[in-house]
Amino acid sequence: MTSTVSTPVTESVRVRPAGLDDLERLYALEVATFETDRLSRRRMQYWIRAENGILLLAEQGEKLLGYCLTLLHRGTRLARLYSLAVSPEARGQGIAVELIQRLEKLAVQRGKLFMRLEVAKDNQAAIQLYKKLGFVTFGTFEDYYEDHRDALRMQKRIRHVEANLRRQEVPWYQQTTGFTCGPAALMMVMTALDRSIRPSQELELDIWREATTIYMTTGHGGCHPIGLALAAQSRGFEASVMINNTEPLFVEGVRTTGKKQILTVVHNHFVAQAVQAGVPVTHANITQKQLEQFLDEGALVLMLISTYRMDSRKAPHWVAVTAIDDQCLYVHDPDPTEDEQSALDCQYLPILRRDFDRMSVFGRNQLRTAVIVRKQSA
Ligand SMILES: CC(C)(COP(=O)(O)OP(=O)(O)OC[C@H]1O[C@@H](n2cnc3c(N)ncnc32)[C@H](O)[C@@H]1OP(=O)(O)O)[C@@H](O)C(=O)NCCC(=O)NCCS
Repeated sequence: MTSTVSTPVTESVRVRPAGLDDLERLYALEVATFETDRLSRRRMQYWIRAENGILLLAEQGEKLLGYCLTLLHRGTRLARLYSLAVSPEARGQGIAVELIQRLEKLAVQRGKLFMRLEVAKDNQAAIQLYKKLGFVTFGTFEDYYEDHRDALRMQKRIRHVEANLRRQEVPWYQQTTGFTCGPAALMMVMTALDRSIRPSQELELDIWREATTIYMTTGHGGCHPIGLALAAQSRGFEASVMINNTEPLFVEGVRTTGKKQILTVVHNHFVAQAVQAGVPVTHANITQKQLEQFLDEGALVLMLISTYRMDSRKAPHWVAVTAIDDQCLYVHDPDPTEDEQSALDCQYLPILRRDFDRMSVFGRNQLRTAVIVRKQSA
């Protein structure tokens, strides 16, 4: 959507990125504006310096009129409008519009496709402002704020792409341990395909026990694609697996011979179980075209990605591919990695198609693997 808002802001108003010298007056505005859910002075200082955020202020001479902060989600094309305040004397002059429009432009320059935000359901001034700028409501969060108010979730596509979005409503589930991304992603997919499935920590841990590789890089092992497919199949779904190599998986990620041997035994056992249970395993690279086809057919797909491009850690991580369009793939990520990242940012996360291929390979062997899950055919 292209915004048609004109801004009546006078020329004497200057909009610029905040610096550390602005910290005290920014914090004073924050305290004067918000009674709860305030940014602390420390967080404000952090965001002034942060690479993955933009904090713009508006001033007239020495006078601070307002500020606006957007967070730029690493590895995705999502910006989040995190905070906005205009001083009471400066309201009604188009300062907020000016700040947000500048931020949108900067976010687009930084490769972002969408801007999202949360706003208290009773904050009519802000809701009107966002609607005027083209944001649309796409959900709610109950009991979101410290004072228990509910929030509207609003989104705007800041760089226009052809819509044509294929979307299934997929409930989101946050993994409760550092090693259960696979089970969490599988539970989301199973719940989307069968509403009688109830996600729970018990189910998450059960699936992990069925599907774990025991070891995987450091810490507890994550889940093997065949293990996840078997877990889906045993719960009444049809599942198949694509892996782009035939070697035992994740062996190169551990150092000791003992661990390598255990990973090999676990892998071979999963392969044998797949044959026995009739879970098809194809040794091929899954393409975006195939992904699109699977989603078109009503299936949902789990894919292993490397978190490297999201948080610079080279960890293997399962996500659910939940939608696809001409420009982007959308994933449900079960792990909100950053403090400020809410559940909102982890659902239908847009990832540009050209980024996705680089993200969806893991390790030195460039492993690409996917688990395709469908409702059982009658
Ligand atoms: C919401 C807020 C940022 C608006 O700032 P502002 O600079 O006064 O907004 P603008 O002058 O740019 O207003 C643009 C549009 O917003 C809407 N708007 C702004 N204030 C409004 C109000 N009091 N009632 C209804 N709509 C309002 C209108 O649609 C307005 O367009 P219009 O002038 O053509 O009617 C400001 O009121 C504020 O700081 N409020 C407290 C903090 C807050 O709520 N922040 C947002 C948290 S999500």
